[in-house]
Amino acid sequence: MSSLTPREIVSELDKFVVGQAEAKRMVAIAMRNRWRRQRLEPELRDEIAPKNIIMMGPTGVGKTEIARRLAKLAKSPFHKVEATKFTEVGYVGRDVESMIRDLMEIGVNMVRAEEREKVRVRAEKHAEERLIDLLLPGTGKSPSYTFTPMPDPASPQVPATGVTSANESTREKFRQLWREGKLDERMVELEIAGQDNAAMSIMAIPGMDDMGGQMQDVLGRMFPQKKRLRKMKVKDAFTALVQEESDKLIDMDKVQENARERVEQTGIIFLDELDKVATRQDHGGPDVSREGVQRDLLPVVEGCVVNTKYGMVRTDHILFIAAGAFHYAKPSDLIPELQGRFPLRVELSALGKEEFYRILTEPQNALTVQYSALLGTEGLDLTFTDDALREIASMAQKINEDTENIGARRLYTLMEKILSDVSFDASDMNGKKVQVDSAYVREKLADIVEDRDLSRYIL
Ligand SMILES: Nc1ncnc2c1ncn2[C@@H]1O[C@H](COP(=O)(O)OP(=O)(O)OP(=O)(O)O)[C@@H](O)[C@H]1O
Ligand SMILES: [Mg+2]
Repeated sequence: MSSLTPREIVSELDKFVVGQAEAKRMVAIAMRNRWRRQRLEPELRDEIAPKNIIMMGPTGVGKTEIARRLAKLAKSPFHKVEATKFTEVGYVGRDVESMIRDLMEIGVNMVRAEEREKVRVRAEKHAEERLIDLLLPGTGKSPSYTFTPMPDPASPQVPATGVTSANESTREKFRQLWREGKLDERMVELEIAGQDNAAMSIMAIPGMDDMGGQMQDVLGRMFPQKKRLRKMKVKDAFTALVQEESDKLIDMDKVQENARERVEQTGIIFLDELDKVATRQDHGGPDVSREGVQRDLLPVVEGCVVNTKYGMVRTDHILFIAAGAFHYAKPSDLIPELQGRFPLRVELSALGKEEFYRILTEPQNALTVQYSALLGTEGLDLTFTDDALREIASMAQKINEDTENIGARRLYTLMEKILSDVSFDASDMNGKKVQVDSAYVREKLADIVEDRDLSRYIL
């Protein structure tokens, strides 16, 4: 678990998200509290539940971005779901518990990738032996491998295959050639586990995906995956062999155990569009299906046990960060029990031209940096003058005011429009320079800014 202090977390978030100081502080505290909790005596530790957060704010102001960056920092399993995706149990659609199953899947992949990395050196060694067996059958010490070499006349001069005696020096020559990359393009036949299995994908009935997944798992164990012979290049065969060998070296039970621990103790679920399942009292009778979703959410947020294909997962200490515009519905329109599960509320402010200017210039991955890098691959040197960025920022604000306020996403539509010509022509502009200044910006946007109706469609 990451041991960053709240101040450090906020300063990391500052690298990517402009403003929204209050929301950053709140998520930083939530994250630090988990670290604090880990250091307590077990009895007390189990008593302390995470304080779930609701982030409120208009669209495109950084709600998702903050949560996503936080999860990266925390190295926690992170899953983003839209509350609107769920339906009450019994209706067609996804049931709420599936988000825990998905989170667990993410956790398992995360831990497995780490374990694979740990055994990589050993796995590569084993894979290399198998690869040489594949190229030179009969020379290995291990008796049976299921590979057949494919003679390839176009390959570099290598000793004849089909040597029957355990000829060490031939093996070493091959090893040398392989390490020098001279065999990379040669073809071999390799037996690998089949990727798809038609019989099993039938189980994927829409709306029954989770049951389908579990059935597939059961079936998969009953009928082990069919292996099939594939022709491939030596270097691809090596990759496949490394994968297989590292899976042999890692203990999947341990991976699952660690993944479960990590999901239960550090997992974060980002529940987007929570306001969309809230029902306004003055809107007539209660909306059965939405309220049903909220009721189904209750146990998951409060703490229950969910059956996943990797075993039971407790949700007690998973952190939930909910988000929504809450324009029409308010948090008080959620069913009372659910309101109580989200004690922390924070409002994100709408963004204006000052923030837009900073978003264009400050973040490590700022849009201007992205475009310059993209077009740089064509040999085009793209730069922006400061007044151009000011111009774009203030236009973004103006268009947000005149049409719909889509927050920082407006910058994306504007930049696309401004750069559409140069993006198209860049391939023929190797070695050229383009400097975008405010006149350039105004020229490219002139027709649209004049005409409000047009801007509705184009930006
Ligand atoms: N404060 C900000 N600083 C930097 N970039 C931002 C900021 N706000 C938004 N962005 C950028 O705008 C885009 C949309 O932001 P984000 O996905 O966080 O919106 P949101 O608040 O979750 O909106 P929605 O309610 O529509 O989901 C992202 O690509 C993000 O990088
Ligand atoms: Mg979002």
